[in-house]
Amino acid sequence: MSMQGPKTKALYEQAKQLIPYGVNSNFRYWGDDDTLVIVKGEGAYVWDADGKRYIDYRLGFGPVILGHAYPPVVERVREAAANGTVFAWTTPAEIELAQRITRMTGVEMVRLSNTGTEATMHALRLARACTGRERFIKFEGAYHGMYDYALYSTASSNQLKLLGTTRHPRPAPVSAGIPRRIDEYVISLPFNDFERLEETITAHWGDIAAVLFEPIMGNAASIMPRPGFLEKIRELCDRYGIVMIMDEVKTGFRVARGGAQEYFGVRADLVTYAKALGNGFPIAAIGGKRDVMMAAEPGFFALGGTYTGNAIGTAAANATLEVMEKEPVIETIFKRGEALMDGIAEILTRMDIPHVVIGPPSMFGVIITQEEPYDFRGYLRSDTELSEAIFMELNYRGVQPDADNREPWFLCYSLSEEDVAETLQVFEDAVLAVKKRL
Ligand SMILES: Cc1ncc(COP(=O)(O)O)c(C=O)c1O
Repeated sequence: MSMQGPKTKALYEQAKQLIPYGVNSNFRYWGDDDTLVIVKGEGAYVWDADGKRYIDYRLGFGPVILGHAYPPVVERVREAAANGTVFAWTTPAEIELAQRITRMTGVEMVRLSNTGTEATMHALRLARACTGRERFIKFEGAYHGMYDYALYSTASSNQLKLLGTTRHPRPAPVSAGIPRRIDEYVISLPFNDFERLEETITAHWGDIAAVLFEPIMGNAASIMPRPGFLEKIRELCDRYGIVMIMDEVKTGFRVARGGAQEYFGVRADLVTYAKALGNGFPIAAIGGKRDVMMAAEPGFFALGGTYTGNAIGTAAANATLEVMEKEPVIETIFKRGEALMDGIAEILTRMDIPHVVIGPPSMFGVIITQEEPYDFRGYLRSDTELSEAIFMELNYRGVQPDADNREPWFLCYSLSEEDVAETLQVFEDAVLAVKKRL
């Protein structure tokens, strides 16, 4: 069975001629038969080139918090584009956005960039500049972007043996082309392992500039931090002068208006935002404490780019955050998400499939497993073949979570109660169909 209808297939064949594997991001490649060509998005739906409609739970890997082509955002962008898009000067819209971001999240200062990759890359360099130290800690299964330092032991490291033992984890590169010696700077640890974290920091703090982490493992099925784990990172960073960088590229403006800092009540020194900030337009931000942010001093530190603060991304973010401040966006999404999580769990229980449905309702994970995982190694022990079979079946039937369940189900404000009901009906049909084949 293929997801491609005849028009989609023909376009994809054309794409492959000139674009390697027919995609502009490797994460979009589902194989030659199942990679789609999308022609339109509106609200909670996308349509492929054959006119097949999907209820979209991927939302471009998370950014679309309000809905595709959300009219107030599109309108603000249209107005901005008519007045010029990039100036090499500060604009009033950037000031307005800085005011909104600081008000909503509690960060003291903010700088804009274009992608999550840029934001976390700059944050890491800022931490090094502030501390004079060079190594950093990240967690297995966490993804922070496409630059060399971050491409170790991400959720793409899908072989346990590459990660080393739990007592002696080692950073596993997830791409060819990364200079070998970069791994000297990366300390990769299992998430939620209090003991390993404390032991590592106590032994090496003089070399460690930052702990860079996703507060919820948004690239590993939304595995949650154990109670007290984020507070432990805070405590150790304070004790040893390490910069705590919370990567909120997925959680920011999605799990609460103030992101994971608000959701968990833990404040970091630097925080990175992207995705939901612009409802699908390329915009990102680095926020944080004034003393850390002010280290970005011209002449001392490199932080910038031609398109940082460009009028299009900035307008999209201002419009998105304005809607989020005025309307019950998070509350509505949580209500729908809770109904979906409960419904999915009920169906799987009734069908006798061991599972957990975890994470916040706006970005939850569904894992087929006997026991809830608390780190990426635990996730790798789950039944990913069965979850992929169910999720592919959902896709064939017009409901689109990622087939790879490391990617959470993302929900948007445009998703209706009817969409939730339809999804649950299709979910039940899909599980029944897969069970019949087992
Ligand atoms: C937590 C996290 N950080 C950083 C990134 C990189 O963001 P971008 O793809 O915008 O470069 C991602 C992308 O998925 C992410 O999930």
